[in-house]
Amino acid sequence: NSMRQPIMAGNWKMNPATEADALNLARGFCAMLTELEDTCAMDAKEGCTEVVVFPPFPFISKVKDIVAKYGITVGAQQVYYENKGAFTGSVAASMVKSVGCEYVLCGHSERRSLFSDSDVNINLKVKKTLEFGMKPILCVGETQDEYDLGITQEVCAMQVSKDLRGVSKEDMRNVVIAYEPVWAIGTGLVCDAKAANDVHKYIRTILAKMYDEEVAQSTRIQYGGSVTPESVDGLMAMSDIDGCLVGGASLFADKFARIVNFK
Ligand code: G3P
Repeated sequence: NSMRQPIMAGNWKMNPATEADALNLARGFCAMLTELEDTCAMDAKEGCTEVVVFPPFPFISKVKDIVAKYGITVGAQQVYYENKGAFTGSVAASMVKSVGCEYVLCGHSERRSLFSDSDVNINLKVKKTLEFGMKPILCVGETQDEYDLGITQEVCAMQVSKDLRGVSKEDMRNVVIAYEPVWAIGTGLVCDAKAANDVHKYIRTILAKMYDEEVAQSTRIQYGGSVTPESVDGLMAMSDIDGCLVGGASLFADKFARIVNFK
């Protein structure tokens, strides 16, 4: 997978509670990287690991000011698909773009299950993200019930094909996919690395059908779900896992720094 630059992302979700805590986390993480002499993340050099953090909206701007000099970028955990207007409580793509976001999470399972994000809406959000020159990280994955039914592949195929409908081959260069089995999110049950890799390979076959082999091989696919310093190396050793989307462990500066510095 040498053609695909590794990408490690920290999804802070609805944490930490205050701006002060968020900025401390960002500073702590940068300090840990300096300690580990991670010149890779700091220089954003060719062949190095790309690092992105997703703070809650109110903290994005200040977190960006802290992490930018370390070559780390920021993203938004979600955007609405309309450009502007009477949509109380929603945040538009232009807004997060204007405060420096390079990435937007689309279709995270928590948005799907708790906020009724449908594949149709997720598709609109993916396209809106691209339209504003940002890169969507499209999250897909099966629930525990779907896993038990043995329909992981069908679920992923359905989500990938619906959520990327109308996205051009050209735009696919800016799309990252995150495979997050819902049963592994926040549960401490990390998916077996080989099993996750098989799903990643399967997602590439879907991309090959929708686009072509070049898109299938060049699209970066992250794994997400209870990734820790203990599990990251085994996951990253797999041929088709190009990075991780980290929740809980990204709230600890030392843990996330170790994950970014996977071996
Ligand atoms: O978006 C990342 C995520 O859903 C995984 O969360 O806490 O299991 O690492 P966590």
